[in-house]
Amino acid sequence: MDATYNLNGGFKPTLKRFADLAGPDFYPTPAWATHALVDNECFTGQIWESACGNGAMSEVLKTANSDVVSSDLFDRGYGDVGVDFLASNTRVPNIVTNPPYNSAEGFVKSGLRCAEKKFALLLRLAFLEGAKRQKSIFSISPPTRVWVFSERITFYPMNAERKGSGTTAYAWFVWDKQKSGNTELRWLPPGYKAAFS
Ligand SMILES: C[S@@+](CC[C@H](N)C(=O)[O-])C[C@H]1O[C@@H](n2cnc3c(N)ncnc32)[C@H](O)[C@@H]1O
Repeated sequence: MDATYNLNGGFKPTLKRFADLAGPDFYPTPAWATHALVDNECFTGQIWESACGNGAMSEVLKTANSDVVSSDLFDRGYGDVGVDFLASNTRVPNIVTNPPYNSAEGFVKSGLRCAEKKFALLLRLAFLEGAKRQKSIFSISPPTRVWVFSERITFYPMNAERKGSGTTAYAWFVWDKQKSGNTELRWLPPGYKAAFS
């Protein structure tokens, strides 16, 4: 039985985040979630969407910034293909992406290495937890800001029927390489989902 679906055929979107798809782990980000970021964080200079999928996030980033480059390890028909962000040493001003669930820690490390100014990752809010992450990430390089979504994001695989709502809390984790100090916790106001869906 495919654990992705309820017995009645309904799709369980949030559980699917654990799956490694053929490609692997491809979930386009709903546009409103990226609008919420660019509405609240300013990015100066080029932005690299380093796991761009089909460009869902890149296309919204372009509404706020004229210089957006996109790549992915897999061919989703968008951006440069075959670029492994986990192995990258390319330096760029800013990086924004939604990483595959199983590689979130690796993406943080690559972001810290490759971003000159800011990098922002869309992650589960629960990413804040965990003794291993406390040691390897948060005690050394805590995010500058965490933007908690007050609305739930639902991720659907490409072409899946859109029904139900998400049960997992997400947040934008932003590292500003030009700032140090304590992590700022902010809440994104509701309304983005209705405005940009
Ligand atoms: C959750 S999807 C998000 C796609 C896109 N960022 C968005 O928000 O719509 C994660 C993407 O990461 C890509 N990916 C997986 N491992 C990668 C790696 N090591 N380097 C670059 N991209 C990778 C997958 O192919 C997939 O397109």
